[in-house]
Amino acid sequence: MEEERLMAPAELSEDGEIERTLRPRRLDEYIGQTRIKENMQVYIEAAKGRREALDHVLLYGPPGLGKTTLAGIIANELGTGFRATSGPAIERAGDLAAILTNLEAYDVLFIDEIHRLNRTVEEILYPAMEDFALDIIIGKGPSARSLRIDLQPFTLVGATTRAGLLTSPLRDRFGIIDRLEYYDTAELEQIVKRSASIMQIVIDSRGATEIAGRARGTPRVANRLLKRVRDFAQVRANGHITKTVADESLTMLEIDALGLDRIDRQLLITMAEKFAGGPVGLETLAASISEEPETVEDVYEPYLMKIGFLQRTPRGRMITYPACRHLGIKVPGKPEQNALFEMPEGKG
Ligand SMILES: Nc1ncnc2c1ncn2[C@@H]1O[C@H](COP(=O)(O)OP(=O)(O)OP(=O)(O)O)[C@@H](O)[C@H]1O
Ligand SMILES: [Mg+2]
Repeated sequence: MEEERLMAPAELSEDGEIERTLRPRRLDEYIGQTRIKENMQVYIEAAKGRREALDHVLLYGPPGLGKTTLAGIIANELGTGFRATSGPAIERAGDLAAILTNLEAYDVLFIDEIHRLNRTVEEILYPAMEDFALDIIIGKGPSARSLRIDLQPFTLVGATTRAGLLTSPLRDRFGIIDRLEYYDTAELEQIVKRSASIMQIVIDSRGATEIAGRARGTPRVANRLLKRVRDFAQVRANGHITKTVADESLTMLEIDALGLDRIDRQLLITMAEKFAGGPVGLETLAASISEEPETVEDVYEPYLMKIGFLQRTPRGRMITYPACRHLGIKVPGKPEQNALFEMPEGKG
């Protein structure tokens, strides 16, 4: 495997152990995502009050924003069992049938990467979600008959980074569909402070803000940066994380003020310099930085689009003026805008 990328919002091998200890277990420890949290609180109370299974929940959004965490919290708040699996892990219809028949009443079944379920497995889910039942075909040919087995009522929580890849029959069976949003700096600062206190790291407010501001809206990245800065603080400072310590260590890691790392910058500079700012097709762009198109689409682009550095157009990807300004490069094909660059700081 190639070198793991510090700013990758996807889980890295180093995250495992510590992520589990940092993962909030109750709704009130889950920072941000206020609207989702408030609604979820109501749905959970209502389901418990009626002694019914909570409606099926689909959580989608970029990696590292807290989908898996929220799924676990839902089970904790419901006070039910939690069974976790993933789309690619369920190979045959029988695997899923076995999981479903083993659920206890009101359990939460979490299926991560639910867009990667194969078709025959997915079809088992339809009656399971709708009627809490399994339809099994017994025998073959003319004597075959269908047998219906009742399941315990349960809540399916599905998570995906790519809601667009879900088939509509599957999507339609979720009563609650929530899109997780990037976190703002104040929320990430709270997350950094909470994690620091769990890991017994001394950090002041401005240190936490500095890390939060460079965590590209993503709690997983914020926690990872905190760990790196801690190492730096231990070796180069007195173990305390201040703004200066955070700034110096993140700069050393080549993470800029907006949380862009070398690969983000390379992607943008490639667009500007090799493709005249775009439009350039996803495949071409991905190949030029030796990445998979899916990785570029799911991992790099969402944040760059969120901060207005990259646009998806029908003809391809385009770099934006603010991106060029941030990187200090010329805006391709726009000499009149480049004139702005030559103006002295503060007079533009
Ligand atoms: N709202 C939150 N408050 C505090 N910490 C959070 C929050 N959301 C996520 N985290 C932290 O970020 C880490 C990553 O979150 P999580 O694994 O739930 O992301 P995910 O959306 O499931 O990512 P992926 O798409 O890669 O599966 C968690 O271990 C947790 O410590
Ligand atoms: Mg997850």
